[in-house]
Amino acid sequence: MRTPFIAGNWKMHKTVGEAEALIAELRPAFGAGGRRVLVAPPFTALERAVAATKGSAIEVGAQNMAAERSGAHTGEVSVLMLKDLGVEVVILGHSERRAIYGETDATVNTKVRLALEEGLEVILCIGETLDERDAGRAEDVVRAQVTAGLDGVGAAELTRVTLAYEPVWAIGTGRTATPDDANAIHRMIRATIADRYGAEAAEQLIIQYGGSVKPGNVAALMAQPDIDGALVGGASLTADTFIPIVNFDV
Ligand code: PGA
Repeated sequence: MRTPFIAGNWKMHKTVGEAEALIAELRPAFGAGGRRVLVAPPFTALERAVAATKGSAIEVGAQNMAAERSGAHTGEVSVLMLKDLGVEVVILGHSERRAIYGETDATVNTKVRLALEEGLEVILCIGETLDERDAGRAEDVVRAQVTAGLDGVGAAELTRVTLAYEPVWAIGTGRTATPDDANAIHRMIRATIADRYGAEAAEQLIIQYGGSVKPGNVAALMAQPDIDGALVGGASLTADTFIPIVNFDV
């Protein structure tokens, strides 16, 4: 059985005070529900978010990290700095990092390996653009991103990887993949993992869906056999929308 895993990607939103206020609202809503819940605030709010979630069911993750451990990399934040704050999970390869900041599969893979080497858990994002989908290439693109992103990652390390399938055309657009379409890609991802790591590893892998997940569509997505969680952007920014997503009815 795979434990449902819902993560909120706050992107470039929330000051430290706003982050603490939202966590205070979220804390009482999540308990022994057999679900994992994580928030990923911006770097500046991570330290206080870790403190604010202590003793709660809420985990804290980062949205990105540098591809190197340290050095002359002005403006970057390293894996060692995240660990220093008590952060145990990092989102890597988000489509905004790829599209706006030029991260390639190779960059993403370097970061994935570094994070895993340093003992973090990784949420690795993959997903096709609208052009790629319209050209009938969605499966090929996603398969290639999975393979390249996990290059050099061993079976033991894979247990600390969650994959997040986020069709780029569904992110922040209000346009969600249909549960069936999303599940078809998830199924293909699981088969790709089975080929490479074996059936058991594939069976255990958590694959989140992301892209305009809302209280009104989460249950239908989660009802799909290969959708194990959600990576939520816009709707993770308020308690009113994030709580019902995490506590969706089965
Ligand atoms: P969205 O973002 O829920 O606002 O579409 C999802 C994401 O980018 O992770």
